[in-house]
Amino acid sequence: MELQQFSSEAQFSASPTLEHLLKRDEITGKSDDYQVLDIPNTSSSIPTLATFLLSFDNLTYNVKVGPKSTFACCGNNTIVSPNKKTKSLLNDITGEAREGEIMAILGASGSGKSTLIDALANRIDRHSLRGSVTLNGEALESGLLKVISAYVMQDDLLFPMLTVEETLMFSAEFRLPRSLSKSNKKVRVQALIDQLGLRNAAKTVIGDEGHRGVSGGERRRVSIGIDIIHDPILLFLDEPTSGLDSTSAYMVVKVLQRIAQSGSIVIMSIHQPSSRILGLLDSLIFLSHGQTLYSGSPANLPRFFNEFGHPFPENGNPSEFALDFIRELEETPFGTQKLVEFNNSWQAAMNSNSNASNKPSLALKDAIKRSISRGKLVTGAVATIDVNLTSLVPSFANPFWVEVLVLLKRLVTNSRRIPEVFGVRLGAIIITGIILATMFWQIDNSPRGVQERLGCIAISISAIVYTCTTEAPEFIKERYIFMRETAYNAYRRSSYVLARSFFSIPSLIILSLVFSTITFWAIGFSGGVSGFFFYFLTTLATFWAGSSFVAFLAGLFPDFFIAFVIAIATTSYFLFFCGFLVSRDRLPKYWIWFHYISLVKYPYQALLQNEFLQDPSKCFARGAQIFEQTTLGALPTSLKNDLLTSMGNVLGMNVTGSTCILMGKDIAKLQALTDLNKWNCVWITFAWGCFYRILFYLTLLFGSKNKRK
Ligand SMILES: Nc1ncnc2c1ncn2[C@@H]1O[C@H](COP(=O)(O)OP(=O)(O)OP(=O)(O)O)[C@@H](O)[C@H]1O
Ligand SMILES: [Mg+2]
Repeated sequence: MELQQFSSEAQFSASPTLEHLLKRDEITGKSDDYQVLDIPNTSSSIPTLATFLLSFDNLTYNVKVGPKSTFACCGNNTIVSPNKKTKSLLNDITGEAREGEIMAILGASGSGKSTLIDALANRIDRHSLRGSVTLNGEALESGLLKVISAYVMQDDLLFPMLTVEETLMFSAEFRLPRSLSKSNKKVRVQALIDQLGLRNAAKTVIGDEGHRGVSGGERRRVSIGIDIIHDPILLFLDEPTSGLDSTSAYMVVKVLQRIAQSGSIVIMSIHQPSSRILGLLDSLIFLSHGQTLYSGSPANLPRFFNEFGHPFPENGNPSEFALDFIRELEETPFGTQKLVEFNNSWQAAMNSNSNASNKPSLALKDAIKRSISRGKLVTGAVATIDVNLTSLVPSFANPFWVEVLVLLKRLVTNSRRIPEVFGVRLGAIIITGIILATMFWQIDNSPRGVQERLGCIAISISAIVYTCTTEAPEFIKERYIFMRETAYNAYRRSSYVLARSFFSIPSLIILSLVFSTITFWAIGFSGGVSGFFFYFLTTLATFWAGSSFVAFLAGLFPDFFIAFVIAIATTSYFLFFCGFLVSRDRLPKYWIWFHYISLVKYPYQALLQNEFLQDPSKCFARGAQIFEQTTLGALPTSLKNDLLTSMGNVLGMNVTGSTCILMGKDIAKLQALTDLNKWNCVWITFAWGCFYRILFYLTLLFGSKNKRK
């Protein structure tokens, strides 16, 4: 399909540049007759001189393997130093990948394909990797590499309930600059859908284990699509064809060929390419135990093995023969060492024959500028004169607030398609509310009622925090998508944390309102409408703090089970130390710090003050009621009245059956509830929520580096 639809004006230039496109957008407000990107279908527009050349020299990567620590228990308790061996994952790998070409890395499982891709894509810590990776002779700075490259992971991490078109559109909104009109972004997405052969699946949801969606091959292509939407200069893919049937695999590689021909370098790993796929590849690297066994074009492969002394049969797939032969060699006592040495001498001979004019003449900065002016790398980059590389290509395509809005829109769209997630939380809160309401139905103002109030409020607050733990799976599932997207600067981590927080607020308001309405009136808490408002606000603050706390734990422990267990256990400890079981003044000194970090303490104290201090002189025990819950409670009323009179005589005051013995303010004092006033308790609860969101941000910042050590 022909993708280009230039207006007559545009046809004067070779291709519409981004600058041109942006200007047109500014002047006319629309430019629907333009194609955002120029990805040609025919090889006629393959650049005659490659602008980009990625070179990697002597890449070596070793890791320490073996038990983490070995302790010898031999009577004298000496500690033996860790017994670790060094394993070489990459051993002196050298090669070149040029613009317009697909370089494929082949080898058996465990040969080091993914490791080499990680090394090239700067996903291995600089201190661990030896050797150099340069683009046009210049070492790639990590920030720049992030914006000019894309890495397509082996797993498809996508929002299951978005359609193919929506998924690509959201990616366009993240990766393409705001200055590009929405209609242009749509045009780009439609072009990509056609290019990836996804037209028939465009309106189908991605799906997951629970929902039927697009096929595996289509999902793979969507994963590639979201990473190439901004037309990166360098594209790394780890086994993009794994798990696909031969036709789907061929289609994927065909798409990659077109991307390469539009001015990119494509580097991918592949297990066993079919003959058709082999015909699309421009250069191959065969690996075995992290060493290069062959590096060169597919056409030279039979000649190479022929010269090594192992000719291939005339017909058949040479890559298959090569892989089979390598496997045979690996099983021999000398392994593949001879082939490694032969390859080194063969490479040396080839290099001395090739002429040096193949090297790109442009410096990296000029090459990137030229690429941008040809319509590549649509990330808000502007090919202006005299700027350094980092200001040439901005780190993020959009400002912070645009990212927050797009993320919010995506969260809302996805969650509206899976209402059951919120439904389960709402159901849990309704059931908890009904149980509490019926259990503590219309509590009276007696000493027993006081105890029931304390218990009811402590349990309610803890139940709210417990139900927040149901959010953990959501955070953890999303974390992997987040890691994929932020690894190559689709958006800022802070935008995600803010969007996630804004997104949770409406649902927390609904949950708080439902819980407050069910429990407040049925239990008979005091304060009327203003008391209800305060109760609702405290409940909301608790939901907010609980949900932020769970987000933080999910950020800290990406394993769902661990996050869940720690959330449940910590919430229980919060309850232990909130002041309900043991009041603050009776807690052992060394536990007092836990009392102050307990998320249950503040809302618990706020609601008790709302209950007992709205009217501090409200009476909760009159006359003989003080004998309740003691053995004296069983005495006849007349005897109890006599006892009261005698007590009054001793104290020198008149104590009768209607004298108030226990007031609200007495309970507050007895329960040590007066260190903070109720409004401060609510604000502190909100502040805890904000604090945990900041910690959540920090866990994402430091915990999602995506790099091997
Ligand atoms: N951190 C590590 N510690 C020890 N060995 C490791 C580590 N990471 C990778 N390896 C080993 O390095 C080798 C290469 O791994 P790599 O993932 O690159 O293989 P691969 O060629 O991509 O395999 P596959 O085709 O199965 O994906 C494997 O033997 C693997 O077990
Ligand atoms: Mg791999």
